[in-house]
Amino acid sequence: MPKDAFGREIDYLRISVIDACNLRCVYCMPINAYFAPLRSLLTPAEIEQVVRVAVSLGFRKFRITGGEPTLRSDLLEIVSRMASVEGVGDLAMTTNAIALPKLAVKLKQAGLKRVNVHLDSLNPETVRQQMRWGNLEEIWEGILAAEEAGLVPIKLNSVVTAGFNENDVVELARLTLERDWHVRFIELMPLGTGECARLSIQRYVSNIETRRRIEQVFGPLIELEQTNPADESRNYKIPGAKGVIGFISPVSQPYCGNCNRMRLTADGKFHLCLLNDDELDVKAALRNGGGPEKIAEILLKAVAIKPTGHRLLQGRSTTERLMHQLGG
Ligand code: 5AD
Ligand code: SF4
Repeated sequence: MPKDAFGREIDYLRISVIDACNLRCVYCMPINAYFAPLRSLLTPAEIEQVVRVAVSLGFRKFRITGGEPTLRSDLLEIVSRMASVEGVGDLAMTTNAIALPKLAVKLKQAGLKRVNVHLDSLNPETVRQQMRWGNLEEIWEGILAAEEAGLVPIKLNSVVTAGFNENDVVELARLTLERDWHVRFIELMPLGTGECARLSIQRYVSNIETRRRIEQVFGPLIELEQTNPADESRNYKIPGAKGVIGFISPVSQPYCGNCNRMRLTADGKFHLCLLNDDELDVKAALRNGGGPEKIAEILLKAVAIKPTGHRLLQGRSTTERLMHQLGG
């Protein structure tokens, strides 16, 4: 398994397949976001080439992200090509679920194992405010379709945002009483230099506060043993609940020391740390006939020079990219 300069074992590749999205969540994308032209995106065959090399180096865990991956008309081909690579253990996707009523069964058949669904609230009005073009009913139908298709365990991701959904965390947490879902609360991270970054700083809510809100209603949460040290989520249960409540706290409880991730952007760059700008181009090598050795050399270099961690508390973050280009 490839190790970085700090001894971290990097075996998880998150592949953004498109930077466009059919929603415009306030902290993720400006209304008039710029999207990379389709021809600049890696093709399914190019993505498969990178995945084959990654597996040969010891990567085992893969996730498809966006933007919104279901906007790629060739998503099923991407999934089946990735799933066909022997050694791909976990294959998951992050989505807003809107397309899942049509796609969930096909994705499962193509080899996808599970999905994480982005949903900030169970209140239709808050969803409209915070996810802007989002519609709760559509998203909910998508979640149920994913569950029915066996894309489980269902994980919901909710970004907690002051003045929008900060009080809705209680109803989201309540879902875990009757459903074996994971409901995870994510602290806002500022990316870029524009309105999303400003909002993410101004409306930041610590997960300490979110946990307190949930415990006020349900009593003390039971902490679950951390089976995977690289899991960025600290997991808990409401006593007697079927599902899990997770807190992803990059700001109040950074987990960079256990980071096992590498990211690939839709336009073919290894992005070495979500919250730093460092990137290495792999698309040029793919398009200039660079074989597996060349791709492996680039990926190993990307691992070797991965930054130690983020510097959000020093006021530094990714400046060149927004979340919709990196997929979380
Ligand atoms: N801070 C934290 N999480 C974010 N996401 C999007 N924008 C932000 C932000 N500014 C999360 C969403 C989505 C995933 C891709 O990243 O939950 O599911
Ligand atoms: Fe789209 Fe997800 Fe960003 Fe919302 S958070 S705009 S659903 S990519």
